Amino acid sequence: MDNKVIIFDTTLRDGEQALNASLSVHEKLQIAQAIERLGVDIMEVGFPVSSPGDFESVQQIAKTVKNSRVCALARAVEADIKACADALKPAEAFRIHTFISTSDVHVQQKLRKEFSDIEAMAVHAVKYARRFTDDVEFSCEDAGRTPIDNLCRMVEQAIKAGATTVNIPDTVGYTVPTEFGGIITQLFNRVPNIDQAVISVHCHNDLGLAVANSIAAVQAGVRQIECTVNGIGERAGNCSLEEVAMILKTRESLLGLHTGIQHQEIARTSKLVSHLCNMPVQLNKAIVGGNAFSHSSGIHQDGMLKASNTYEIMTPESVGISKTKLNLTSRSGRHVIKHRMASLGYQDSDYDLEQLYSDFLALADKKGQVFDDDLEALLFNIQQQEMQDFYHIDYLTVQSGSGEFATASIKLASGEEQQIKSATGNGPVDALYRAIKQAVDIEFEVSDYKISNKGAGEDGLGQADIVVTWQGRNFHGFGLATDVIEASGQALIHTLNSIHRAETISALKKEAGAKQSPSSSTHKPQGV
Ligand code: KIV
Ligand code: ZN
Repeated sequence: MDNKVIIFDTTLRDGEQALNASLSVHEKLQIAQAIERLGVDIMEVGFPVSSPGDFESVQQIAKTVKNSRVCALARAVEADIKACADALKPAEAFRIHTFISTSDVHVQQKLRKEFSDIEAMAVHAVKYARRFTDDVEFSCEDAGRTPIDNLCRMVEQAIKAGATTVNIPDTVGYTVPTEFGGIITQLFNRVPNIDQAVISVHCHNDLGLAVANSIAAVQAGVRQIECTVNGIGERAGNCSLEEVAMILKTRESLLGLHTGIQHQEIARTSKLVSHLCNMPVQLNKAIVGGNAFSHSSGIHQDGMLKASNTYEIMTPESVGISKTKLNLTSRSGRHVIKHRMASLGYQDSDYDLEQLYSDFLALADKKGQVFDDDLEALLFNIQQQEMQDFYHIDYLTVQSGSGEFATASIKLASGEEQQIKSATGNGPVDALYRAIKQAVDIEFEVSDYKISNKGAGEDGLGQADIVVTWQGRNFHGFGLATDVIEASGQALIHTLNSIHRAETISALKKEAGAKQSPSSSTHKPQGV
């Protein structure tokens, strides 16, 4: 049996479907490119039938990504599978992933069908998907709670129908490692054609066992793990990509398995996903948490000074975390910035040095010292601004003090027009948001707002992250500045620009008289 474990990333499908605000096509592309650099074998990037936005992002990613195979999800129905094939067409080769539930509770309560009907639908779906590609994956949703005889029957039928990968999800994160490993062993022992497909697992983390169950499964013979960056996904999330990748690397001599993951890309990819998805990573998270390589107790620090392997089983550098911290100032030249960016894992082609250097100088003038986190925050900000923006704040001023109303005035550009508006509010951000609301033609509600410190020290950059609800959809935006009120203004403008783009796209589609296609419903179909 091959010793390579195929890494199937589903950050942009299972991960994305659990976010509070959906990602824009541009953001999904940024994440897809980061995941490609990370060296995943396959990336599942959406559920094209669910919305025109999902369809478009799958199509864009299929056009762009070359070094990982691109895959999209479909229920076991023809319309979903056809939408996958249409969206994935720009890729040279692609995978269609089709699924149906197999557990009694799902078959009887959710689908209200007989198991034999499910079997027939699965076989038909796999055969239909094979008309578009020879790379078809079939998943038995809720396999972890499926009676083993039914599971064996389904896996055998799916392979016979042409599935080249069969996935065994623990959809509700219910099993424990010995039990899950046992299910896999039974499949290998009982399904006669099992050697004709790659067997995969997809574990959820409801009991905190997603990674442990995935490792038990590879020990039992599975050769594909489905996972997400930072473990994001439905409810408590999915198996975390960085954890399985580092387990397989760190314990290679025990497990005898490897992956194609570029481990030094892990930290950088994790930060990008956390930032764009507005999903902070817990400090004590394995591999990518802020404390994963910090040593607090005196005894540990003493050990580390003598030999780092006393308390570190892998080096921070091996996952792309640089331990050397340099404080940059306005006297630092371009070559120092370039060097710092390289040690943070960025290549020259990943950013425009002139633009970054000019933003760096402006920041260094304001706050004196600039740290690695500041530099990365500036880069994220530039990437965000690369989008053509309709709304733009030319000028803002806010006055506030304890015990009195705050007042804000803004000069806001909307395309070619400019407006000056003032408003009062019960705090500076409230006043600012009221003034902006007067100047734009969008009915929105701010449903979430938070401020965090991005750089090191008290004078670090302030980042505002907000979620805005418009016509039942949530949009996330962020703003970054040394002044948190300015950052809050930028965050709102960022989301309003995303809403404006969404509005323009749907107006264009209406104008073009776009016919209702299976992919034009705005709600995700039931079932995923
Ligand atoms: O959790 C699950 O079962 C899934 C399937 C669609 C693979 O996400
Ligand atoms: Zn899932």
